[in-house]
Amino acid sequence: MVLTVGRRLHILNEYSSRCLKQVRRSHATETFKWSHRVFSGIQPTGSMHLGNYFGAVQKWVEMQNAGESVIYSIADLHSITLPQIPEHTQLCWTLGCLTTMARLAHIPTYKEKSATVKEVPLGLYVYPVLQAADILLYRATHVPVGEDQTHNLELVQHLAKIFNNRYGHTFPIPKAVVADSSISRLKSLRDPSKKMSKSEQDPKSRIEITDTPDDILEKCKKALTDFTSEITFDPEKRPGVANLITIHSLFTGLDPAEICEQNIGLDTGRYKLVVAEVIQEKLEPLRQQVQQYMSEPQYIEEVLNRGADKASVIAQQTWLDVKTKVGLQINEGSYRCLQVSEKRVM
Ligand code: TYM
Repeated sequence: MVLTVGRRLHILNEYSSRCLKQVRRSHATETFKWSHRVFSGIQPTGSMHLGNYFGAVQKWVEMQNAGESVIYSIADLHSITLPQIPEHTQLCWTLGCLTTMARLAHIPTYKEKSATVKEVPLGLYVYPVLQAADILLYRATHVPVGEDQTHNLELVQHLAKIFNNRYGHTFPIPKAVVADSSISRLKSLRDPSKKMSKSEQDPKSRIEITDTPDDILEKCKKALTDFTSEITFDPEKRPGVANLITIHSLFTGLDPAEICEQNIGLDTGRYKLVVAEVIQEKLEPLRQQVQQYMSEPQYIEEVLNRGADKASVIAQQTWLDVKTKVGLQINEGSYRCLQVSEKRVM
């Protein structure tokens, strides 16, 4: 993640040239059967936690390993100078002209985040439109995300429909691919009424992929539960214990009911140690792999650059299409006009 500063879109894997050819072919024949393409992203702030991993990233890997055409990005526009990725911001502006402030103000992520700051930055407000531009620029058909992103995805669908109605069929209507409900929103370990989040100030609220075994033990011990000592799975009434059981279940593939049965007789304090041990064991190979990659910055840089180059071919193609349809494409005639008026001014 350190390597991403100053760039907006880094593609973390390669997709096949076969797919590119398919896209070109489908445009040429003017059919509206879109090639299946997966797009998703993650913000570069903080370190990846279990919510990100189980809510989205695990699915990304699955789809990639299944041979799907995938593009995964690090959404770091806030930390860069704009000209490096003009298509994203240009399409963002174009789409921004097709929606209303009222619609954006209703998006739950905006409501949640704006409630925590005194002065609401314009970027926070416009963020879902930029996300829509990210997705539509690659004509993605499927977007694997956690459940917190579903409202943003509804806006993307809405914008794609408006654009298509106004300017002709240009974008597929992308579908959110959301993990099943227990995983789709892992909760904070310190306050299970909230989601596990990178932006939560208390680092004990989340388990990060790079946490050491000691960090994991400490965080599990401090996880907020309740005053009942048995291990039962009741997300409504006992969200803290249910969250631990969910994490346990995700790592082991065991059903929550089986986990409760296996741990009959333990109180929550001792069960936390069991969960810590499971997480320590399962996360260790992943942590080591991340460390290995982090010790090879040149390799990471190379993969990111290669991906970004491939992605920009698609981005430029889409933006040219959009520009032409909207009437922004400067043709020879209008360019000549511009020169005439410049001469007059001088
Ligand atoms: P971000 O960085 O907040 O999160 C990355 C992914 O992790 C999921 N996620 C969770 N899933 C389950 N439980 C949780 N506690 C949890 N916390 C996070 C998120 O749903 C997300 O799928 N706006 C996006 C980044 C983005 C993007 C895009 C995504 C920018 N452009 C285009 C898809 C397509 C975000 O802030 O994700």
